Amino acid sequence: MRRHLLGIEQLDKEQLYNYLDNAKSFVEVSNRELKKVPALRGKTIINLFLESSTRTRASFEIAGKRLSADTINISGTDSSVTKGETLLDTARNLQAMSPDAIVVRHRESGAANFLAKHLKNCAIINAGDGMHEHPTQALLDCLSLRQHFAEREKGIEGLRIAIVGDIRHSRVARSNIFAHKLLDNEIHLVAPPTLLPPNVESIKEFGPKVKIFHSLKAGLEGADVVMVLRMQLERQTDNFVPSLEEYCANYCVSERILSRYAPNSIVMHPGPINRGIELSSEVADGKRSIIERQVTNGVAVRMAVLFTLCAGNITQEEK
Ligand code: CP
Repeated sequence: MRRHLLGIEQLDKEQLYNYLDNAKSFVEVSNRELKKVPALRGKTIINLFLESSTRTRASFEIAGKRLSADTINISGTDSSVTKGETLLDTARNLQAMSPDAIVVRHRESGAANFLAKHLKNCAIINAGDGMHEHPTQALLDCLSLRQHFAEREKGIEGLRIAIVGDIRHSRVARSNIFAHKLLDNEIHLVAPPTLLPPNVESIKEFGPKVKIFHSLKAGLEGADVVMVLRMQLERQTDNFVPSLEEYCANYCVSERILSRYAPNSIVMHPGPINRGIELSSEVADGKRSIIERQVTNGVAVRMAVLFTLCAGNITQEEK
């Protein structure tokens, strides 16, 4: 049976660490002068991006090329979706050309699961579906944390992670909540009530170590990691905050507030950043930020995912 990567929710801890271990070896490949291995020679990967992307799309393409796969990119604007073709018809037609994997980004939650249900001959990799999951983002975030804490001779379990901002609309938040639940980390969700999922306290899948805060100061207290989220204005169908100015006054993560309430924290952001709205430039570009490391690690993590799902009988040692 074909394996897919649809979300972190379906992974167990061993699978999470397997991806991170594989990614570590691909970090080494990306640091070589010749950044290419023959691991996926003869394999074909289609990147079907029907919603905009810079980081995920570029890094999946680079990842495929570094593994010597043939990679094809299709975006919403240059596909027959603009002529009214359905997602399923588009994907079935692509599958008819025998790709080994289709990497899909789509604005609808569940799009990747839908394709996995209907396509039997290729792996489906979720590159972000609506407000549901963005599993490779959570994996690259975990890899970045693992590197950071390993440099301080620490692991990535038993941490306090504050996730701040538009959690309601964030697939990055959901995937990270599931990842940090597996890692037994304490998760602080920090947002105004309107930017949290409805009835967030009773979402059993999030587990018992999730705590809710409406005060930025209280939510940041003692955090090891502050994960700042973008205000997802394109998904907001209502006025979720009175104004961006008011949101910024209460929730923008600044050096002043971090140095007081989470002085030893590091700061992450999945990008793209709305500078001065959810995060100050001083923090984004400052010494706490591991944002560029996150982007760098996107390539290694996506190499690990493509390798795991497409290599077939090729063993890890042969790559
Ligand atoms: N983090 C992330 O998914 O960025 P892109 O939308 O640019 O891919």
